[in-house]
Amino acid sequence: MPSSRPMPLRCPVCRVPLQAVDNPGAPLSALVCGSGHSFDAAKQGYYNLLVGKGTVFEADSAPMVAARFNFLESGHYRPLAEAVAAAVAPLVPQRGEFTILDSGTGTGQYLRVLLDEVSRRGASCTAVALDISKFALRRASRLNPEAICLACDVWQPLPIADAAVDVVTVIFAPRNGAEFARVLRPGGRLVVVTPRAGHLAAVAERTGMLGIEEDKDARLAESLSGHFVAESARDLDIGMMLTPGEVADLAFMGPAGHHLDRAALVSSLGTGDEVTAVDARFRITVFRPATAAT
Ligand SMILES: C[S@@+](CC[C@H](N)C(=O)[O-])C[C@H]1O[C@@H](n2cnc3c(N)ncnc32)[C@H](O)[C@@H]1O
Ligand SMILES: [Zn+2]
Repeated sequence: MPSSRPMPLRCPVCRVPLQAVDNPGAPLSALVCGSGHSFDAAKQGYYNLLVGKGTVFEADSAPMVAARFNFLESGHYRPLAEAVAAAVAPLVPQRGEFTILDSGTGTGQYLRVLLDEVSRRGASCTAVALDISKFALRRASRLNPEAICLACDVWQPLPIADAAVDVVTVIFAPRNGAEFARVLRPGGRLVVVTPRAGHLAAVAERTGMLGIEEDKDARLAESLSGHFVAESARDLDIGMMLTPGEVADLAFMGPAGHHLDRAALVSSLGTGDEVTAVDARFRITVFRPATAAT
């Protein structure tokens, strides 16, 4: 159910509120601010709010995004999507208004599961999904037509109003603690998914992909310290039997995809019926703002 709340967006140039308007003569809308800055929707529906020089960043390529999409469609990570939805569900008011930000949304497949859960609970929801990769946003906006999908850089001031969001979700994506704290309402929560030691170790072994460092948890807390306090955490392990194509997608959808040759990787993994046993190890942590009493 769409929300009747005002749009929680701010112009990335001058910080005054952004509103959606229909473009005369065009089916697509644009976002405009009171000072006249205007951002047209791409044909897939997302808005490009990247302004200025931004962070020097090698965005995921189209083939890397396709590998992510295909792997997530295989359903092996579905229990993770459901666990994230279960972590967010208690924060959703029954039949009330709710605003969610999915930062580093990628292909938007986790957001889809989350929005379906919110809608089952009868809440009216405003969803904002952001990512720096336009290839990812093309898919995210097609999959989540009710969400406001934004191309922007999480390391820049977010184009989102102060205290406008109930829940921020960050699934394997960068975390800007100061900005997440600014956009959350008092009482809001940050839900973060990170890999634990041993995550995809069998894939790392077979593909040369980097493993997960032991101190990842300490680094997560450190990266958010001063802004957030961990409130609860749940570990989730998923045992998977993967085909060579699925192993290749898993390797290729992560940072290793920037330098792996997918065709060579697939042929080195074999094309037969051979399956590889792979364990995925996740932690879902719910943080409250450091200043919030509850
Ligand atoms: C590992 S992927 C995770 C995507 C999605 N949450 C998922 O789990 O399928 C990390 C995502 O963060 C995005 N990202 C990386 N740096 C970013 C930045 N500076 N600003 C916004 N998004 C960024 C990438 O484009 C990518 O889609
Ligand atoms: Zn403006």
